Amino acid sequence: MSANSPAAVVVLAAGGGTRMKSNRLPKVLHEVCGRSLVGHAVAAAEELTPGQLVVVIGHMREKVAEHLAAHHPGARAVVQAEQNGTGHAVRTALETLAADGIELDGTVIVTTGDAPLLTGGTLRALAGAHAEQGNGVTVLTAVVPEPFGYGRILRDEADGAVAAIVEEKDASDAQRAIDEINSGVFAFDAKLLVGALAEVTTDNAQGEEYLTDTLEILRRAGHRVGAVVAADYRDILGINDRVQLAHARRLLNDRLLERAMRAGVTVVDPATTWFDVQVSYEPDAVVLPNTQLQGTTHLGEGSEVGPNSTLKDTRIGAGARVSNTTADGAEVGELATAGPYAYLRPGARLARKAKVGTYVEVKNSELGEGAKVPHLSYIGDATIGEGTNVGAASVTVNYDGVNKHRTVIGAHCRTGSDNMFIAPVTIGDGAYTAAGSVITNDVPAGGLGVSRAQQRNIAGWVERKRPGTTSAQAAAAAAEPAAEVPTEG
Ligand code: UD1
Ligand code: CA
Repeated sequence: MSANSPAAVVVLAAGGGTRMKSNRLPKVLHEVCGRSLVGHAVAAAEELTPGQLVVVIGHMREKVAEHLAAHHPGARAVVQAEQNGTGHAVRTALETLAADGIELDGTVIVTTGDAPLLTGGTLRALAGAHAEQGNGVTVLTAVVPEPFGYGRILRDEADGAVAAIVEEKDASDAQRAIDEINSGVFAFDAKLLVGALAEVTTDNAQGEEYLTDTLEILRRAGHRVGAVVAADYRDILGINDRVQLAHARRLLNDRLLERAMRAGVTVVDPATTWFDVQVSYEPDAVVLPNTQLQGTTHLGEGSEVGPNSTLKDTRIGAGARVSNTTADGAEVGELATAGPYAYLRPGARLARKAKVGTYVEVKNSELGEGAKVPHLSYIGDATIGEGTNVGAASVTVNYDGVNKHRTVIGAHCRTGSDNMFIAPVTIGDGAYTAAGSVITNDVPAGGLGVSRAQQRNIAGWVERKRPGTTSAQAAAAAAEPAAEVPTEG
């Protein structure tokens, strides 16, 4: 907590979110760009390094509390058992802190758990204006094209100052025509907030304690009520249903892609490219169409990913190329390649210049520098040495039905096509294996492993056993002496 930090940020996230029509997930746990709605609010709040970071939870509180503990341990969950309104929610938070002997002094920021486009920068601007103007309360407002459903900002005709906020359901027709709305985000003087909340009644259309009533209460008591108008109303959009959820995801994605492009990343088709908030990159990375970068995925300098790729928590090295690939928890080294049609699962690690080719699945395995698995293979729980080539259609048979076992293939090996490596098994450096082999025993360095039945040919079998077929006709034609071809000399 620095000198300018607020004493507390209170994130309101107890509401039912009925318009999401979700039986499984509380509204604030729905995701946008790799982070829950409440996670976005907490992340923005954390940028202010507040003394206390409180999230008020209620609806499906066990799920929300568990999520916060797992992903945002810096936030403290406070339960509002019954959702009696936004004023009641803030009062519950402050009373819980007070009961723990935490007396707030300075600024309290109140924000909502359902506005994922709201940034730490916007909260900082609000807190800055609040302090600078010496306000008792400062509200973040926005002028919106469609104010329906929001609280409207009533301004004093004489001085233009905020006089009150009136909710949609309590508003007159004239008030409903106002297009400046309450974002639901405020900066308060802590002491004044406690006093004002004590005066809030439930005398309104919804029978709730409205936090918004504190503005009129403070103004009447002679305190300054300020407002900061958001430069872009889209920054404060709240999510109430899944249509708004998709809209917010699109807006946030556009913001993330723009940031990437300004940092030197080529995004060929922003319309079909999706980034999560934690994605990172270096200049000259190229993202081809229909590509999703999720979690902590990182793109190295000059790497190229896509088209049609989904990469989660995956590191792509400088100059590497990954196409038509699904990857999760993988590492693709410098100048390495994967795809088209590769599946890199957790623990797949490709060293520099390694190659995982077409229709190849790799799990929990390391490929050494320049090692190649070019075609149609499954590599699981394996170590493949540098410069080794694994033949097409090979499988590390890693699972005996109970336990997993490792396959170790040394450096500069050439394993034949259609090999089964029955793990645990080790192929020494520089060894070869024959095509079609089932490799059950270790192959020593420099040796050739062969494990397959001798071939025998039964002459004339088709003409005897499949007479009259086109195969038999072709065989008969092949058996006739070739037409006379005059020879020279
Ligand atoms: C609220 C504001 C409105 C503003 C709008 C912005 C009030 C009375 N109204 O209206 O002026 O324009 O937000 O989106 O404040 N919550 C609780 N506990 C409760 C009730 C709500 O934690 O008892 C939380 C909700 O989870 C939500 C936030 O507070 O995150 C706002 O509640 P919501 O019911 O969505 O309020 P609105 O009617 O949208
Ligand atoms: Ca709302």
